[in-house]
Amino acid sequence: MTSVLELRRTAALRRAAVRATFAPSVHNTQPWRFVLRDGELGVYADRSRRLEVLDPTSRQLTISCGSALMNARVSLASSGFGAKVDRLPDSAHSDLLARITTTDQPDTSAGFAALDSVLELRQTNRRRFDDEQVPAEVLSALEETAAAEHSTLFVVSREEHRVAVARLTRTADVLENADPAYRAEIRAWTTDDPGRRDGVRELAVPYLDGLIQDEVPLRVFDIGGMGSPPPGPHSTRSQCLVVLGTEGDRPIDWLRAGEALERTLLEITKRGFAAGPVTQAVEVPSTRIQLRAELGLTMYPQMLLRIGRAPLSPAARRRRLVDVLVEDA
Ligand SMILES: Cc1cc2nc3c(=O)[nH]c(=O)nc-3n(C[C@H](O)[C@H](O)[C@H](O)COP(=O)(O)O)c2cc1C
Repeated sequence: MTSVLELRRTAALRRAAVRATFAPSVHNTQPWRFVLRDGELGVYADRSRRLEVLDPTSRQLTISCGSALMNARVSLASSGFGAKVDRLPDSAHSDLLARITTTDQPDTSAGFAALDSVLELRQTNRRRFDDEQVPAEVLSALEETAAAEHSTLFVVSREEHRVAVARLTRTADVLENADPAYRAEIRAWTTDDPGRRDGVRELAVPYLDGLIQDEVPLRVFDIGGMGSPPPGPHSTRSQCLVVLGTEGDRPIDWLRAGEALERTLLEITKRGFAAGPVTQAVEVPSTRIQLRAELGLTMYPQMLLRIGRAPLSPAARRRRLVDVLVEDA
């Protein structure tokens, strides 16, 4: 007979899968699948949702799944359980990114319970950020957060580094947009269909008319010129910019980077700040190499984020649970 404790564990793992689906994902592809079986939650990559043009190596897909894994860990802590996570446990099955089982010791040191309460408030914000500086103590806390997840957060503070980030982002943005296949992929993942549960909603991207030339341009989702928030995110080199990176550049590092990304984003949300990825410069191989060289980084850059204060943005949609979670009785 199933004990009450086993039922509680299963319920906590199911909740963890539900909470995992709130994670950010590249182009809101939600490239994950969860399998709940025998007291274990498997986190799988769904490579049928990989962006073939933007992400041929699955780097960003794996970062997205790592973010989902972090949400699952946070959820388990708030349900009163610890999480034992085996990352990439089976080399014969590379789609199995993590196996999660519960322990009786929740990780209280990480403040995960407080992060669970802001999990649904976290969002990618592409609006104009106000001029308020992000305090140094907040940035130090974010550096510690990333370090706790085997990653490094580099705050872009020197003027020559800001100039380099802006220039390399513009270069990468031009190179990407020069490729019709990249533009077609973006178009396929930008949507104004109220019934669609994936993709980036036009409501959440700024109106761009080709005349706006931001210093650190956000990715142009609005191929049809139909974006909604007020025009001009005014993304400048003087806003708070951070690079998140890892020591290596293999799938395990990408998974860890995703965990670090989401934990950092939740910490940012908890403190009342907004954030959004601006990742063009780390996607194009030549600008990624230059970014490392010009910022003097030994780590591999995985994400570039802008942080600031801004009004909320319309929430992104999520796929239905039945489409992402398999449960065995
Ligand atoms: C690996 C990764 C890369 C991303 N790159 C960008 C980007 O370059 N520009 C952008 O506006 N959003 C970017 N995003 C944010 C996603 O578009 C966003 O997470 C998704 O649309 C879901 O929306 P939400 O974060 O508000 O839940 C990225 C997210 C991830 C995980």
